[in-house]
Amino acid sequence: MKFHSVSGLRGEVTVPGDKSISHRAVMFGALAKGKTEITGFLRGADCLSTISCFRQLGISIDETADKILVEGKGLHGLSAPADVLDTGNSGTTTRLISGILAGQKFTSVLNGDASIQKRPMRRIMTPLSQMGASICSLNGNDCAPLEITGSALHGISYLSPVASAQVKSAVLLAGLYADGETSVTEPAISRNHTELMLKSFGADVKTEGLTATVQPEPALHGMDILVPGDISSAAYFIAAGCLVPNAEILIRNVGINPTRDGILRVARKMGADITLLNEKNTGEPVADLLVKSSSLHGITIGGDIIPTLIDELPVIAVMAAAAEGTTVIRDAAELKVKESDRIAVMTENLSAMGCDITATEDGMIINGGKTLHGAVIDSHLDHRIAMSFAIAAMIAEGDTEMKDADCVKISYPDFYDDLNKLSIK
Ligand code: S3P
Repeated sequence: MKFHSVSGLRGEVTVPGDKSISHRAVMFGALAKGKTEITGFLRGADCLSTISCFRQLGISIDETADKILVEGKGLHGLSAPADVLDTGNSGTTTRLISGILAGQKFTSVLNGDASIQKRPMRRIMTPLSQMGASICSLNGNDCAPLEITGSALHGISYLSPVASAQVKSAVLLAGLYADGETSVTEPAISRNHTELMLKSFGADVKTEGLTATVQPEPALHGMDILVPGDISSAAYFIAAGCLVPNAEILIRNVGINPTRDGILRVARKMGADITLLNEKNTGEPVADLLVKSSSLHGITIGGDIIPTLIDELPVIAVMAAAAEGTTVIRDAAELKVKESDRIAVMTENLSAMGCDITATEDGMIINGGKTLHGAVIDSHLDHRIAMSFAIAAMIAEGDTEMKDADCVKISYPDFYDDLNKLSIK
């Protein structure tokens, strides 16, 4: 796919539903008794993988034009799948469902695409085994395919070595099936959608500092869920609004949960002009974001803010390439184990566009301010890389050609159309 620079951006966009929240709504709806109606569900490939896995586990899920309807069967209502559960490209599906399967009375096998088969699963295998589940990597490399045989689980207090909402959620979900309380303590707070949503479904979940605790065997009841727009998808428009000259765009209905809003804090620190309008709470805090062109400067990004913007770091690197001065990103080694090695892939592609960028062990150093030029970009089939370079191409001199640009279907199927509608050519 070819991309060109633009001379301005004007108008409004409503980004699709939050990916993390959409996955959880289907999963928890399946474990609850009765109907769960989900409005604003993200129909991206990742969340569709979650739907198809739960259908294989015996849950009836209907799709209408604007809703997903889940007929929950309660905590013990799942049935053994007839075939391998295909989690596609989705780390969230793979890791969260593992926690649920650990508590079932049957054996299941999980597998996904080539990227999923390279992503680390030891991080969930360790705590789930400690709880008493039998979980094994069939190729012996701590990656999928995984075979999980559920059993009577024990509650544990798990000290997680990584700040990962997927690890935390897998353990808390297994904790619903344990014989006592289960808690997870993280090195820094990761997204808390599991804690918030499980609680509204009726679970006894408490958080204190870096520790989340769940009590077993709650009576979960079906409910209506309104999924806010995904701040991780809004991030591309935030970056475009800052970087493209003559830009003024309104991004409607964006989730601004404080465990996800690092992009706003970092962009403002770099000099971005972002105004929050119409703030409200619909189970999760949401707002409209008004973004205008601004001149950015480099900053250092590291420490506890990293989990709150981990998925936005590729597009933050693009912002840093355009910003005056040096941006240092550190404490972000997790980038290496995402859908692609995002440190290597950002360095390769931004270098190809003429940016002065150096990969480090846990991040990147970017000396920004040089005009980028069009180049051939390899998305490495990573949706967040593709969207980040669609933004870089808007401010580059000359044309950009992207390989496998359609991988955006993972989290934002209409991304290019939405971006085009705002663009002044
Ligand atoms: C997610 C957690 C994060 C994030 C991913 C979605 C979730 O992963 O990168 O895109 O929905 O829990 P980690 O838990 O691996 O940090």
